Amino acid sequence: MAVEIDLSGRRALVTGAGQGIGRGIARTLAAAGAEVLVNDLVGERAESVAAEIVADGGRASGLPFDVTDWSAVQAAVDAAGMVDVLVNNAGNAGKASTHGFEDMKPFAEEDPSAWEGFIRVNLFGVMYATRAVLPGMVERGFGRVVTVVSDSARTGEAQMAAYAAAKSGATGLIRSIAREVGRHGITANCLALGTMNPFEASPEDEEQYAWLVKRYAIRRRGLPADVAGITAFLASDMAEWITGQTIPVNGGYSMAL
Ligand SMILES: NC(=O)c1ccc[n+]([C@@H]2O[C@H](COP(=O)([O-])OP(=O)(O)OC[C@H]3O[C@@H](n4cnc5c(N)ncnc54)[C@H](O)[C@@H]3O)[C@@H](O)[C@H]2O)c1
Repeated sequence: MAVEIDLSGRRALVTGAGQGIGRGIARTLAAAGAEVLVNDLVGERAESVAAEIVADGGRASGLPFDVTDWSAVQAAVDAAGMVDVLVNNAGNAGKASTHGFEDMKPFAEEDPSAWEGFIRVNLFGVMYATRAVLPGMVERGFGRVVTVVSDSARTGEAQMAAYAAAKSGATGLIRSIAREVGRHGITANCLALGTMNPFEASPEDEEQYAWLVKRYAIRRRGLPADVAGITAFLASDMAEWITGQTIPVNGGYSMAL
């Protein structure tokens, strides 16, 4: 008997899906048959990923909004209608439209004004999007919420305290929501990612890369496909008894319970 992930008939909203890991997730959910609403803060990115999916024969449309703006999230979700699967992927190191951790410092040297950006995107963004879709999921008796966090939420990470705090907050939020809505056929889980290579680029510094990957049992950085596969599984009917978990997707970087 062949086992396949079939998301046909499901409608998925992936936040921050205009590039990187979110793009990989959106493309995989679409390949599994879901109709995908591709969100991004940057409208052209959302539209371009939706166009890629459509060009590949899938169903998708761009749905740009800022996850940190509750009115915008609520208006977009209300206009879009049914969402069966929410992937809270939008996140960053505090600067809304950029990628990277360039500004990170030891906590004792940080300016408190820098913390809000981390909390707003990585925690409030998850709260707003989840709050917007949940009532419809409860009404229909089905839902899947998958939230992308970081292994730093489980293990802590130097120079990433505010980011880790926001991601860790998201795990507590999702566990609590899982308890509230499980009886309505809704699961809510987090994926705790290790160091990723969202653009599948070659290492810039070979020596530093060799040092980094030695800390991983699987000696490479994570790829969008590593996250997309488990997201599709969690979104499927096969995963209906898995909820409230923070699942490491980290190449074996950390293995503790
Ligand atoms: N890259 C890594 O090494 C790594 C490691 C662990 C966890 N993560 C997490 O994985 C997720 C995706 O990371 P990535 O590396 O693909 O990020 P990325 O920065 O490459 O892409 C994130 C996308 O989200 C969008 N975005 C940012 N703020 C937004 C907002 N307020 N509203 C809507 N969209 C917004 C950006 O425009 C961008 O297109 C994030 O939650 C990140 O924290 C990444």
